Amino acid sequence: MNSEASVKSQPTVKLGKRLSQLENMLDQSYSVIWDCCCDHGLLGMSLLQKKLADKVVFVDILAHQMALLEKDLEGRFPSANYQWQVICQDILKLEVPQVESQLFIIAGVGGDKAVKFIDSLCSAMNGLPFDLLVCSVQGNYPVREALIRQGFYLKQEQIIFENKRFYEAIYVTQNTGSVITATGNSMWDWSNPDHQNYWQKIFPHFRKKALADPQRFSSIFDEYKKLLESADISAADKSILIESIDR
Ligand SMILES: C[S@@+](CC[C@H](N)C(=O)[O-])C[C@H]1O[C@@H](n2cnc3c(N)ncnc32)[C@H](O)[C@@H]1O
Repeated sequence: MNSEASVKSQPTVKLGKRLSQLENMLDQSYSVIWDCCCDHGLLGMSLLQKKLADKVVFVDILAHQMALLEKDLEGRFPSANYQWQVICQDILKLEVPQVESQLFIIAGVGGDKAVKFIDSLCSAMNGLPFDLLVCSVQGNYPVREALIRQGFYLKQEQIIFENKRFYEAIYVTQNTGSVITATGNSMWDWSNPDHQNYWQKIFPHFRKKALADPQRFSSIFDEYKKLLESADISAADKSILIESIDR
C-alpha cells in the first residue's frame, strides 16, 4: 500500500462529547497547535487528521504515556504526511518557538494549574500574540480572571455537559475579539435546562464561600446573582431557579 492509500484507510479519531465540542469551536487553522497536558493525545490527533495545523505538538509530563503516544502516532500518522512532535515536559518549563499563529490547548486539568499554565505560556511567548483554548476541570472564575489579566479577548465560549460534569470551554485570542467576563457572557442559554442546572451548582458554591470568606468571595457571589437577574427568562422562572436550590 502506498502512503497516500494508507492515509485514506486510516480510522477516524473518535472523540467524546467534550473533546469534540472543543474541536468544533476552532474557527481557523494554525501554524502550530499545542495539545498541552495531552495524555492519550486524542484531541491533537483529531486536529492533525483534519489538518487544522501545519504541525501539532503533544506535551505531557507522563513519560510512559508519551512513549506510548509516540508509538501510536508513528503508526497512524506517518511523518511523510503529517508533522507532529511529542514532548515529555512540564508545561511550566515549556520553551516555545517565537512564531505567529499558534494555538495552545489546555484541557482536563484543574483551574489552579490552568492559571499557572496560562501565565507561564504568556511569559514564554514574550508578547507575541497567540490563541488559547481552555477547558479546565472546575475553577473557571480564576481561569477567566487570568485570561482577562493577560489581555485576551473572547472568540467563543461554551458550556459543556459530559458524564454528569459541567465544563466551560473558553476560546480566546490576543488579537481582536469580544471582552471576556469572569462569569461568562455569551455561553449562557437560559432556555437550556443544563445551563440552568449549571448556574444552580455555581450559585450555592459561591454563596457558601462568601459566608466563610466574605472579603474574597462576596463580590463573586454577587456577580453570579446579577447574571441570573440579567437572564432573558421571566421573573417567575428566576424565582423558581433560586428557590429550587435549597430544596
Ligand atoms: C485528565 S488528563 C487530560 C487529557 C486531555 N487533555 C483531556 O482533556 O482529555 C490531564 C493530563 O495533564 C497532565 N499534566 C498535569 N500537570 C502537568 C504539567 N505540569 N505539565 C504537563 N502535563 C501535565 C497529566 O499528566 C495528565 O496526563
